[in-house]
Amino acid sequence: MAQQDKAKIGLIGLGTMGSALALNIAEKGFPIAVWNRRADVTRAFHAEAGELADRVIPTESYEELVAAIAKPRAIILMVPAGEPVDEQIAALRPLLDDDDMIIDAGNANFHDTNRRSREAEGKPFLGIGVSGGEAGARHGPAIMGGGEKAHWDRVAPILTAIAAKFGDEPCADWMGREGAGHFVKAVHNGIEYADMQMIAEVYGVMRDGLGLNADAIGDAFARFNEGALKSYLIEISSIVTKAADKHTGQPMIDLILDKAGQKGTGRWTAIEAQHLAAPIPAIEAAVVARNLSSRVAARKEGEDLFGAAPQQIPEGKVSDEMLERALIAGKVLCYAQGFDMIAAASEQFRWALPLPAIARVWREGCIIRSAMLDDMAAALAEDEDRNLMLAPVFARHLREGHVALRELVAIGARYGHPMPALSSGLSYFDTMRTARGTANMIQAQRDYFGEHGFERTDGIEDKHGPWHGHGV
Ligand SMILES: NC(=O)c1ccc[n+]([C@@H]2O[C@H](COP(=O)([O-])OP(=O)(O)OC[C@H]3O[C@@H](n4cnc5c(N)ncnc54)[C@H](OP(=O)(O)O)[C@@H]3O)[C@@H](O)[C@H]2O)c1
Repeated sequence: MAQQDKAKIGLIGLGTMGSALALNIAEKGFPIAVWNRRADVTRAFHAEAGELADRVIPTESYEELVAAIAKPRAIILMVPAGEPVDEQIAALRPLLDDDDMIIDAGNANFHDTNRRSREAEGKPFLGIGVSGGEAGARHGPAIMGGGEKAHWDRVAPILTAIAAKFGDEPCADWMGREGAGHFVKAVHNGIEYADMQMIAEVYGVMRDGLGLNADAIGDAFARFNEGALKSYLIEISSIVTKAADKHTGQPMIDLILDKAGQKGTGRWTAIEAQHLAAPIPAIEAAVVARNLSSRVAARKEGEDLFGAAPQQIPEGKVSDEMLERALIAGKVLCYAQGFDMIAAASEQFRWALPLPAIARVWREGCIIRSAMLDDMAAALAEDEDRNLMLAPVFARHLREGHVALRELVAIGARYGHPMPALSSGLSYFDTMRTARGTANMIQAQRDYFGEHGFERTDGIEDKHGPWHGHGV
């Protein structure tokens, strides 16, 4: 095959994401060579590629794949995170030239990407976070790149061409070295967990507290989607609550078991936040809520023993406006936490993560895309080091919204509606505006039992209390 007839890029793993991404790449004019461990999948993919089939080169061995790509090569891996990625790298590397690039586009744990970057020993390796699910991969995902900047620049023309666009701006950017792209993708997913959980909590109030049917709840979300909450997640919340089941004609949402799945990226975010000492309570609460949701039998036992928690909320106590404002406040607090964690990682790993660019990349293509992210990008561009909740536009949202959030959380407590994410968002807000908190008590206790010492408020240089020497 002449060099000019060769593929511009290769891809391994024609599953949900890989096949969508490959078609997207071909559609943007880049011939692509593909390989799947089951050759029948590769053949079927090529046969179904329609008018794009001319730009797809199906291959049935690693050697064939490598030979089909123009040098210096770049090959995307779109296989499950973990061992399959290491297996593919081990199989490919001996066949590649030293300047050929492997790009892991799955949901890798960023620690693995750090390790693989080191193991690549200077041979080009990128870890890119791809968000937006199948539709995003097919028509424009958000892409968060990690690795050497020069390596990113080499494939940036393809990755920016296939990415979602916000106006004219591609939602694809380089985040930093090694696992920076996969780290940012994990935090994206953590934020996604919290955003979804807060929406689910408000849904619960409407369903169990206000007795609204699914259709009416869908209408409320559609209204919310016309204001500051305008986002993909609110939009699809309206769509899924209004959809009818094709078997029974009943609202689909009412027939879905309340047991949330997860692939682990939210959990990684929560675990990493602890390592970084980054406070992301709303995100952690959302991960816990998913874990608790899977305790279906235990929750049923609890309800049988103690009675069902959620009660009807008396009329007039909760308005549409209160729900909307509470969600706005909750959302601001959740993103403030997520960006705070990114800033903490940036410092810890010396990645210089570009916070405004991250917000810009998330504006389109990914699951958490929303109107608010544009304001977040602007606020972070003004001052990257400021907690988002202190930026004027978000401080305004919070001034207006925290009263509603407080009332809603109080009503939730009074009438038995669990609100783990919204209530931890509120506690975060209150903690973050309490100049003198209560950790002096913790410090006194620690000094009493462990002689750990404390700092004084009055500058006197004595770090122990009068109990010194009396502890256990
Ligand atoms: N689905 C999403 O919405 C989404 C969004 C963002 C990121 N991701 C990430 O993208 C990656 C791929 O996800 P997916 O949803 O496309 O998965 P999928 O539909 O299950 O496809 C997995 C692909 O990997 C191949 N594969 C599995 N194990 C392999 C192994 N040991 N060696 C070689 N190939 C192997 C499969 O080949 P066979 O056909 O032979 O089984 C298939 O082509 C994952 O890391 C996932 O977390 C997914």
